[in-house]
Amino acid sequence: MENDILKVLISEEALQQKVRELGAQISRDYAGSPRKLLVLGVLKGSFVFMADLIRQITVPCQVEFMAVSSYHAGVKSSGVVKIIKDIDIDPQDIDILIVEDILDSGLTLKYLKDLLLQRHASNIRIATLLDKPARRAADIKADYSGFEIPDEFVVGYGLDYAESYRNLPYVGVLKPEVYEK
Ligand code: IMP
Ligand code: MG
Repeated sequence: MENDILKVLISEEALQQKVRELGAQISRDYAGSPRKLLVLGVLKGSFVFMADLIRQITVPCQVEFMAVSSYHAGVKSSGVVKIIKDIDIDPQDIDILIVEDILDSGLTLKYLKDLLLQRHASNIRIATLLDKPARRAADIKADYSGFEIPDEFVVGYGLDYAESYRNLPYVGVLKPEVYEK
C-alpha cells in the first residue's frame, strides 16, 4: 500500500494540529447559538476527519451521515447527484455543519446544500479538510477549510482510490501509474 504513494502531502501531526484549530474555531462560532447543531458527514470519505473533528467540538451537537454518489462522465463530475442514504430528521430550525473530505469541482456540495436549503434548514455551513480550488466548477465555498492542495489525486485519512487507501494515517499523493494501469 505504502509503495503506491508518491509522497506524503500532509503528515499525521499536521492533520491533528489542523483539526484542533478547526474544532476550536467551530466551537467559538457556534457557542451560545439558540439552535441545535447537526454535524452532517458525507460518506464515505469524511468519516476519519469527522471522527477527529467532533472530538474537538465543545458545543452540544448531534451527528448524522448522508451518502451520495455523483455521476461522472469520464473524469468530469456531471453535477447529477444521487442520494444513497438520507437523513430522516427535519432540518428546520437547526444549524447544519456539512463535513466533507475534499472540495473538488464542488458540484456534490452545491447539490447537497441546495437540497437542505429547500428543506428549510436555517443555517448551513461547510467544513472541508481539503480544498482543490483549481478544479472548482460550482459556485460554492467552504466556511472552514483545512488545507488548500494542488490539483493532484490524494488518498488516505478517509480518502480513497477505488475504495482503497482510506486507512493511511496521512494524506499522500497517489503514484499516477496506480490509476493509469
Ligand atoms: P466534487 O467536489 O463534487 O467534484 O466531488 C468531491 C468528491 O470527489 C470528494 O468527496 C471525493 O470523494 C472525490 N475526490 C475528489 N478529489 C479527490 C482526490 O484527490 N482523492 C480522492 N477523492 C477525491
Ligand atoms: Mg467523498
